[in-house]
Amino acid sequence: MTQPTVSSKTSRRAFLKRSGVAATGAALAGGLSIARTAHAGGGDLVRVALVGCGGRGVGAAVNALANTGHANVKVVALADAFQDRVDFAERALKKRFPEKVDVPPQRRFTGLKCHEGATAADVDLVLLCGPPGVRPVQYEHAVRAGRHVFMEKPVATDAPGVRRVMAANEEARRKKLAVAVGFHLRHEQKHQKAIAAIHEGAIGDLCYLRAYFNSSGVWVRPRRPEQTEMEYQTRNWYYFNWLSGDHIVEQHVHDIDVCNWMAGAVPVEANGMGGRQVRIGKDYGEIFDHHVVDFTYANGLRMFSQCRHQPGCWNSFSEHAHGTKGRMSIEGHGAAEMFVDGQDRVRWDRGPAGHQVEMDLLFRKIAAGEPHHEGDYGATSTMTAILGRMATYSGQIVRWDDALASNLDLVPQDWSWDADPGPKPGPDGLYPCAVPGVTKAL
Ligand SMILES: NC(=O)c1ccc[n+]([C@@H]2O[C@H](COP(=O)([O-])OP(=O)(O)OC[C@H]3O[C@@H](n4cnc5c(N)ncnc54)[C@H](O)[C@@H]3O)[C@@H](O)[C@H]2O)c1
Repeated sequence: MTQPTVSSKTSRRAFLKRSGVAATGAALAGGLSIARTAHAGGGDLVRVALVGCGGRGVGAAVNALANTGHANVKVVALADAFQDRVDFAERALKKRFPEKVDVPPQRRFTGLKCHEGATAADVDLVLLCGPPGVRPVQYEHAVRAGRHVFMEKPVATDAPGVRRVMAANEEARRKKLAVAVGFHLRHEQKHQKAIAAIHEGAIGDLCYLRAYFNSSGVWVRPRRPEQTEMEYQTRNWYYFNWLSGDHIVEQHVHDIDVCNWMAGAVPVEANGMGGRQVRIGKDYGEIFDHHVVDFTYANGLRMFSQCRHQPGCWNSFSEHAHGTKGRMSIEGHGAAEMFVDGQDRVRWDRGPAGHQVEMDLLFRKIAAGEPHHEGDYGATSTMTAILGRMATYSGQIVRWDDALASNLDLVPQDWSWDADPGPKPGPDGLYPCAVPGVTKAL
């Protein structure tokens, strides 16, 4: 089917008129001039800005351009801290969707505040796919400007960031903006069916949950002599807490979110242990290579969670629920299986990838002008993972209320290449990392 490619000024004006976009002209913070609560009725063009042009950013933009909810979509702005990432994304997207990528030089933005230019461009939807630490500021900015948002998980790396996201969620609701969060497992059919069965009582009352993200680890981007410390940390962001939150927050948050979904709640406290044992060189910043956490929910239910970045060990990306009548096991990339005493095993295959389904749904909602808001569980599941990190770093029992109220702010105020990002290497090139029993959690 031929995709409509409407982009003339006339049709755009007509769209703005039809969809009741409020072009206030008011000067907003950050130089933004247009606030809107758009929906894309009929075949109206939805203009997309991608902020954070890495692997997942390009993936999210591909999902947006291939979505089945609303055909008339273009990527019209690209933003990343680094020029080479913008160029990479432009090439990758253009190769796949030559008709749907229209990013002239004036709509390519670089630097740590690149989101400001991309958000201020005449766009309807912003895809926020940079490191998690910059998400609260970028989300706040997009909502203030009246843009629909897709943001990757996790949505913050510390409690002040989560609170900013929660406040922006309220503003997004008031402005009727669609907000999607990249917890793609929420959109996998085997997760939906398995968790519906749990909620219907198929495995009885829940006794305990288990969650795993055990793998060999991720990429390293080595230091180059010309880089400032801020530049180095921004490139090698995975290994710095202000940017990634540690891998319990950056990655294991997927499984933690699923367990919260199974439990229908967030935990009231956590205790845990962790450290760095295998991944200990200069290239690995300040994060741990393993965390083990016991989370406790208000009704006494426990979630036992493990995440590991150590090669040569048992790996798993999965969530499990144990009940009084049986158990449910869900593989992140595979099927879900239910084992109930005295009955045949039930299996749900994976089905379409959640990454595409979540984007299809977002565009359907934008096109219909219907409410869509995933920001609440985006914030609370991110906070649950941060609670777990607080427990493993400190070696203490940490309570949810204290964790969420924490003013431990990891993200620097100054976003410039010469600014001090916080963590500093010692004379041996190694960064200090948390010491349980010594490090303060809150
Ligand atoms: N849902 C999923 O399955 C999934 C999978 C992978 C990654 N992710 C998430 O996506 C996000 C990005 O991960 P990735 O794998 O694409 O990493 P990546 O390193 O490939 O991309 C991140 C990009 O952000 C850029 N960046 C750094 N600071 C920025 C800033 N201030 N403004 C804009 N851009 C900035 C980097 O230069 C880089 O190009 C993370 O939050 C990650 O957790 C989600």
